[in-house]
Amino acid sequence: MAVPVAPGRWPVLGHTPVLLRRRFGFTDGLRQHGDLVRVYLGRLLTYFVTSAELTHQVLVTRSASFEKGAMFDKFRPFTGNGLVNSGGAFHLRQRRLIQPAFHRERIAHYAEKMAVAVAELCGSWKPDETREINDDMQALAVTIVGAALFGTELGGSAIEESRRSIPVVIRQGMIRALSPEPVGRLLVRGNRQLDQAVTRMRSVVDELIAGWRAEGRDRGDLLSTLLLARDTDGTPMTDQQVYDEVITLLSAGIETSALALAWLFHELARHPDVERRVHDEVDRVLGGRRVTFDDVPKLTYLRQVIDETLRMYPIWILMRRTTEPVELGGVRIPRDTEVTVSPHALHFDPRSFPHPERFDPDRWAPDAAGEIPRGAFIPFGAGNRQCVGNAFALLEMAVTAATIVSRWRLTLARPLRVAYTSTAYPTRLSMTVTPR
Ligand code: HEM
Repeated sequence: MAVPVAPGRWPVLGHTPVLLRRRFGFTDGLRQHGDLVRVYLGRLLTYFVTSAELTHQVLVTRSASFEKGAMFDKFRPFTGNGLVNSGGAFHLRQRRLIQPAFHRERIAHYAEKMAVAVAELCGSWKPDETREINDDMQALAVTIVGAALFGTELGGSAIEESRRSIPVVIRQGMIRALSPEPVGRLLVRGNRQLDQAVTRMRSVVDELIAGWRAEGRDRGDLLSTLLLARDTDGTPMTDQQVYDEVITLLSAGIETSALALAWLFHELARHPDVERRVHDEVDRVLGGRRVTFDDVPKLTYLRQVIDETLRMYPIWILMRRTTEPVELGGVRIPRDTEVTVSPHALHFDPRSFPHPERFDPDRWAPDAAGEIPRGAFIPFGAGNRQCVGNAFALLEMAVTAATIVSRWRLTLARPLRVAYTSTAYPTRLSMTVTPR
């Protein structure tokens, strides 16, 4: 079966110009050409998957025939061979070693640290001042992931450095990864910033590892889990592997949660009816006290708001490469071929989500949610590469939102500014914070 080529292809540059210009408009529009569409990133061919069912096959049922692929090869020099970038048996081993750090009991232990961090943040707000909520959420996410990773006593310098360097690694790394060579090499200033950020992070994390090794004590943080982890044959991770996993968890766990939270407050401000229901629920469940891990399952409407936020503001694209020939939707895709799926395009597919442009938490009400087809809602990916931090992130969002709305009302102070990399992120989300 012939697979159509997406419109707008240029010689040499392929679809990169139209992709960078039209972004979601381009990728969301591909479904009208079929379940599989050929897209060229420069000269690199990728089969773009547009249906929920085929996405599920790529990420879950046929995942054994795929590895991470070209974009991750480009990321590896900056963010190492951690969980996000690695593959095969090595990835499986690392995932087994790291996953316990995200088990329910460990996460429950982080809930309190999260609540303290949020309370500290909004304790610094002054009534009716205007805050850049995107910056506040970024700083908060660094504190939360940093405290979980490094603990609070020793981790101060690493948390501080992460605040400065991780956004550079993510944004410059993404621009670099999406740019076809030799264009990527010409981004001199961005590349320099990227190299400097990587070097600074390296030295601060190496110092922490050396400090931990000198002491050799389990401090109950994620770094301790990584350093104490042993393979079935008793082998620990090398310092290089620990470093790679640390930088991976920081790059994967900060910007994503911060963005989701910023969008959540943006949507609450734009939908007073939704905001009122969230306030009522939080007031009823918390009765004015600090949120705990056990409160979170009771905040059911807030969870619907979180899901709807993750639906509307997900990661743009996820890429894979075939490790053997695969048949997908009646098409035989050869080995070593790039395949792309788009959480954004799937989340805006009206076949799965009627009126997808509407922010409607009620589509997640218990009686409605069952109708969503498999593969259609993948904010955390799916299958063997599903986000290892998803429960952590959901908890972080619930704790942050509940803590803030129990005391404050946030209204938009200025028009929003948005920029695009791996997704849409607000570069300016000025909100006035008013005590409730
Ligand atoms: C709202 C917040 C978050 C979102 C939307 C999100 C989204 C995702 C997605 C879509 C993937 C799959 C990528 C793929 O299949 O190629 C992923 C993987 C990953 N995420 Fe998250 N993430 C979030 C928060 C976090 C947090 C808080 C952490 C850790 C502290 C984290 C760590 C990771 C790691 C390590 C992977 C790679 C897993 C693997 O390949 O085995 N993420 N994330």
